[in-house]
Amino acid sequence: MSAGATPAAGDGKPLVRVQNLVKYFPLRGGILQRTVAEVKAVDDVTFDVRAGEVFGLVGESGCGKTTTGRLLLRLIEPTSGTVEFDGRDLTKMKSDELKKTRSDMQIVFQDPYASLNPRLPIGEIIGEGLSNMGVRDRHQREERVAAILDKVGLRRYYINRYPHEFSGGQRQRIGLARALVLEPKFVVADEPVSALDVSIQSQVLNLMADLKDELQLTYLFISHNLSVVEHISDRVGVMYLGKLVEMSSTEDLFKNPKHPYTKFLLSAIPKPDPRQHRQRLILSGDVPSPINPPTGCRFHTRCPIAQFPICSEQQPAFELKSTGHWAACHFAEQTKELEKESGFVAPAIEAVDEEAAAIGQAERSAASEPEDVLESELDEEARRRSSEPLGGE
Ligand SMILES: Nc1ncnc2c1ncn2[C@@H]1O[C@H](COP(=O)(O)OP(=O)(O)OP(=O)(O)O)[C@@H](O)[C@H]1O
Ligand code: SF4
Ligand SMILES: [Mg+2]
Repeated sequence: MSAGATPAAGDGKPLVRVQNLVKYFPLRGGILQRTVAEVKAVDDVTFDVRAGEVFGLVGESGCGKTTTGRLLLRLIEPTSGTVEFDGRDLTKMKSDELKKTRSDMQIVFQDPYASLNPRLPIGEIIGEGLSNMGVRDRHQREERVAAILDKVGLRRYYINRYPHEFSGGQRQRIGLARALVLEPKFVVADEPVSALDVSIQSQVLNLMADLKDELQLTYLFISHNLSVVEHISDRVGVMYLGKLVEMSSTEDLFKNPKHPYTKFLLSAIPKPDPRQHRQRLILSGDVPSPINPPTGCRFHTRCPIAQFPICSEQQPAFELKSTGHWAACHFAEQTKELEKESGFVAPAIEAVDEEAAAIGQAERSAASEPEDVLESELDEEARRRSSEPLGGE
C-alpha cells in the first residue's frame, strides 16, 4: 500500500466517508433473552462515495449490502465506525441535526409494490416528506409534487391516483419522485430495478442516470447483478460476507479484476452476443454463515486458488494494488499462475444468466425505441392493472 493511502482516499471530494464501519446484529435466546450470538452483517468496511458519482455495491444475497446502505443513512445504528456526510459525522448527530440532514439523504427501495402505502394517492405519498420537513402550504406542496412528477416522466394528473393503478415501472418512478422531491444530494438505491420486468429495467436505469445529471445527485447503487451495476456506476465495491473484497473504477474492475470472488461474479455475466460464450467459473460450497465466518480470508472455504495455511489463518488487508484499485487477497498479484495450477477455469457453458441476458437484450431494444412508445406501453399495463382489485397483484 502506498504511504498514507486508505480506501477512503480518492481523487474526487467525498460526499460520504465511511470508516471502519461495523454492524453486528445480536441474536437473543433463552428466557432472559440474552445475546447468544451475533450476525456479523458488516465488518470493518471503509470507502468513500465521491460527490457526483455512482458507487455500485455488489455481492451475493446476505453479504451486507442493504445493511451498509441503511447504516450510511443512519436508519440503523452502527456497532462501531463512522459515517461522515458532507464533512459531518452522522453517527454523532443529535436528532434535530439528523432530521435536517436527512432531507439531503434519501432511499429508493427494491420493491415498488410493498414500499408505497396503497391507501394514499400518490400526490400524498410523494408530498409526505415535504410536510415532514415543514412545507405547510398545500398549494406549494402540490406544485413541488407536480414538478417532480414531470421529472420522473409521469403525468401531473396522476396525482390523485392510487399506487395499484400503476405498473411496476411507474411505481418505481413514484418511488424515485418520493425520494427526489426533497432535492437530496445523496440517494441510496437498494436494488431499485431487481423487482421489475427486464423490459422495464433499462428504462428506470436510464431515468436514474438522467436525473443524476440533471439534479446533480450522488448514488450508492446496490445490486446483486454486476451487469446492472456496470450500466450505471462510476466505481464499484464488491462485498463478500460483510467485507469489501475489491473496489475500483467500473472499467478497471471489468478489465482487470484482482479478487477471485470478483472473477466469479464477472464470469456469470453472459456475452451480449448469444453465439459467444463466456468461461463460467464454478464456486464450490455455500456461503458460510455470517454468525461464525471463516477464519483468515473469509473466502478461503470457496476460493479455488486458496493457499494453506496462510489463507485460512491470516486475514488479507484491503490494500491498494494499483492506481485506485483495492483488493483483499494475499495472492492478488499471482492469481493467473495459481489459476493455471489449480485448473480454476471450468469448461464454457451456455446461457449462464438468463435474466442478465434479457437485460442486455432489453437495453439494446430500449435504446432504439422512442420514449413515448414506451410510455404508452406503460399506460397500457397501468390500465390493465387499474381494473384489478386493490392488493390483487
Ligand atoms: N435486523 C436484523 N437482525 C438480524 N440479522 C439481520 C438483520 N438485518 C440483516 N441481518 C442479517 O445480516 C446479513 C446481511 O443482510 P443484508 O440484508 O444487509 O444483506 P444483502 O446483501 O442486502 O442481501 P440481499 O441481496 O438478499 O438483499 C444477513 O445474514 C441478514 O440475515
Ligand atoms: S486470500 Fe487466499 S483465499 Fe482469499 S481470495 Fe486470496 S487466494 Fe483466495
Ligand atoms: Mg439487500
